[in-house]
Amino acid sequence: MATHQPRTRKTRPVPTPLPKAELHLHIEGTLEPELAFTLAERNDITLPHPTIDALRAAYSFTDLQSFLNLYYELMAVLRTEADFTDLAEAYLTRAAAQGVRHAEIFFDPQAHTSRGVSLDTVVNGLGAALDTSLERHGISTHLILCFLRDRPATEALATLHAARPHLHRISTVGLDSAELGHPPEKFTHVFDTARALGLRCVAHAGEEGPASYIWQALNLLKVERVDHGIRCLEDPELTAHLAATQTPLTVCPLSNVRLRAVNTLADHPLPALMDAGLLVTVNSDDPAYFGGYVHDNYEALRHRLGLDETTLRQLARNSFTAAFLDPRRRDELIAQLDAHPTP
Ligand code: ADE
Ligand code: ZN
Repeated sequence: MATHQPRTRKTRPVPTPLPKAELHLHIEGTLEPELAFTLAERNDITLPHPTIDALRAAYSFTDLQSFLNLYYELMAVLRTEADFTDLAEAYLTRAAAQGVRHAEIFFDPQAHTSRGVSLDTVVNGLGAALDTSLERHGISTHLILCFLRDRPATEALATLHAARPHLHRISTVGLDSAELGHPPEKFTHVFDTARALGLRCVAHAGEEGPASYIWQALNLLKVERVDHGIRCLEDPELTAHLAATQTPLTVCPLSNVRLRAVNTLADHPLPALMDAGLLVTVNSDDPAYFGGYVHDNYEALRHRLGLDETTLRQLARNSFTAAFLDPRRRDELIAQLDAHPTP
């Protein structure tokens, strides 16, 4: 009688994630629905969506503002230091599995202080997770304090001053939230003050806003990196300038699709940005909302935009080049990337 051998299923080897840095990640945007419900229960808060599935069903966005409405609403569950520690710890655990070796992490203090949660609670809570991140997850970290551009500049300045006791934990300031109608020039004095305090500067520009906002971020806010920046391609002089100065762009492909800055991933301008000689990096932005963490963005570029292994490795290398790393750690991480086996 013929014996039936169990069929061995041929599976494609799953490539282990490339070592990389993540330079555009809003910690509040890593709040997964499951954690949101856990924290809501812990803090006796009723969420407007009765179940995890109902909440996930709300993740269908038409533009940046439609996302921001939910993003700010869900932050209500973040109240105590432990909540912020748990949020950051959950991100770091996921990031490590995605090959992240260094993360420069945005947070939005005004979104918390405006709800009665103190800056001490936010920074100490995040800090408790970040302090052990290298040891526990092999991830070095920086914190980037973002100002909400749809709030007055006076409030941003007050936030900066309130953050002064925490500056040992904060390397950089950034600018985020609703872009259209809120040009960088509004924050020139705030960024001047931040630089005088020894902080580095980045800003979201050219996500939904025009190329002129990118010029303002460069010339007035004196940013060292541009977050998103994809609309630079509408201005050839700007594109040439960004290429000549090798000013990094922190591009977020899955975010751009979910927020309809681009129609589909196949239409994404990332290859055009690279062809123009720009220093492009790939990042996840708000991964809990946009369908993937940073390695998922790399894999989406591989499968839906056809990027080859060499290009993906170049993007990972760019992430270390663009990071605010000390040279020894940068060299160590680039060596890890170079030693990483090709699938
Ligand atoms: N805050 C969180 N995510 C953002 C994004 N993609 N653009 C602007 N502000 C944000
Ligand atoms: Zn962002």
